[in-house]
Amino acid sequence: MASPWWQRAVVYQLYPRSFSDSNGDGVGDLRGVVDRLDYLEWLGVGGLWLNPIHPSPNADWGYDVADYCDVHPELGTLADADRLIAAANRRGIEIVLDLVPGHTSDEHPWFSDASKRGWYIWSDEAREGTSVFGGPSWTERDGAWYFHAFHAKQPNVNWLNDEVRDAFDRILRFWFDRGVAGFRIDVSHDFVRDGEGHVRRDLTHDVLRSWRRIADEYDPPRVLIGETWVHDLAELMTFYGQGDELHMAFNFPFLFASLEELGAVAARTEALLPEGAWPIWALSNHDVVRFPTRMCDGDEAKVRRALRILLSLRGTPVLYQGDELGLEQVAVPPDRIRDVAERDGCRTPIPWTRSGGWREPWLPLGDTSRNVEDERSDPASVLNLVRELIAARSTHV
Ligand code: NOJ
Ligand code: CA
Repeated sequence: MASPWWQRAVVYQLYPRSFSDSNGDGVGDLRGVVDRLDYLEWLGVGGLWLNPIHPSPNADWGYDVADYCDVHPELGTLADADRLIAAANRRGIEIVLDLVPGHTSDEHPWFSDASKRGWYIWSDEAREGTSVFGGPSWTERDGAWYFHAFHAKQPNVNWLNDEVRDAFDRILRFWFDRGVAGFRIDVSHDFVRDGEGHVRRDLTHDVLRSWRRIADEYDPPRVLIGETWVHDLAELMTFYGQGDELHMAFNFPFLFASLEELGAVAARTEALLPEGAWPIWALSNHDVVRFPTRMCDGDEAKVRRALRILLSLRGTPVLYQGDELGLEQVAVPPDRIRDVAERDGCRTPIPWTRSGGWREPWLPLGDTSRNVEDERSDPASVLNLVRELIAARSTHV
């Protein structure tokens, strides 16, 4: 049997707001992605993971979802999503969306629907706790307190409620039926919380198993990729279950290793992986400092070394947009910071040309000396190295 697409492909993580802007309003959008499929096909990637595309007040840039079955108007429409899926598929590129099951926006209609009070985690009294973004994890609304692991505008969902499970099953099917090839699952290691906001790993595994059954109903089966932010590799492996949970669990010990340690972390990962489980590797994402700055001190020789490692391991490599250019973290001036956790420096727009190729982008461009146009025409560029490394993989898998 041929191996599934995600075992053959290099996946490209695409941050839609900062990828490509089709209408010049300064915000990247889905039509912009379609416009750049030539580039992505030329690069040789076989899958795109798109950060959240849904309507959102953007308290956490799309991770505060107000409607799981629609597209944010700044990014496009549902019809644009369909067109993107079809156009990408025609080029042999699969689309993976971001699923955010742990919390919704407080502006999601569920949250203000009195009949759905049991869909969230409420307490009659104030409780102690600190959220990931700082500040309390319980916030008062109309005389009661709700739990939020992240921003106060991201109330946690009550996974002990079967109606919530059903609602998310429908969301999975909604997108799978539209041709989406899988999901990257936000906070997939601990999105299930009890009535006090405590993590319930046992039930988290249970939900992952139920989604795997849904993913396996499809032909071809859909893929589940977890944002498993755990620091212990043995613990990471539990999310593969008995081959009945995640297909791939993101490896943060690898991502946070030094350049010198990458090989050793990869070897430890391989030694611990359960029989038949498939590793996934990334050096950067939209939450952390870009790897050329974090691991390589901006030294291009080191950037090339890191990319050679990433793209030669067994497993699925994930390039975060800009990795292929060797793009560094951008020093975003304080008055341009938009993110609650100040992660803007890794989310700045892709420089398409020396002058950027953007009209007044929502975040500053930073240094454009590394840009697609110049690197594409330079056979010795980082971009062309990445393209060659991807092409070399395809002759081996
Ligand atoms: C992980 C996402 O990658 C990050 O951007 C977000 O802030 C948190 N989960 C909360 O959804
Ligand atoms: Ca736009």
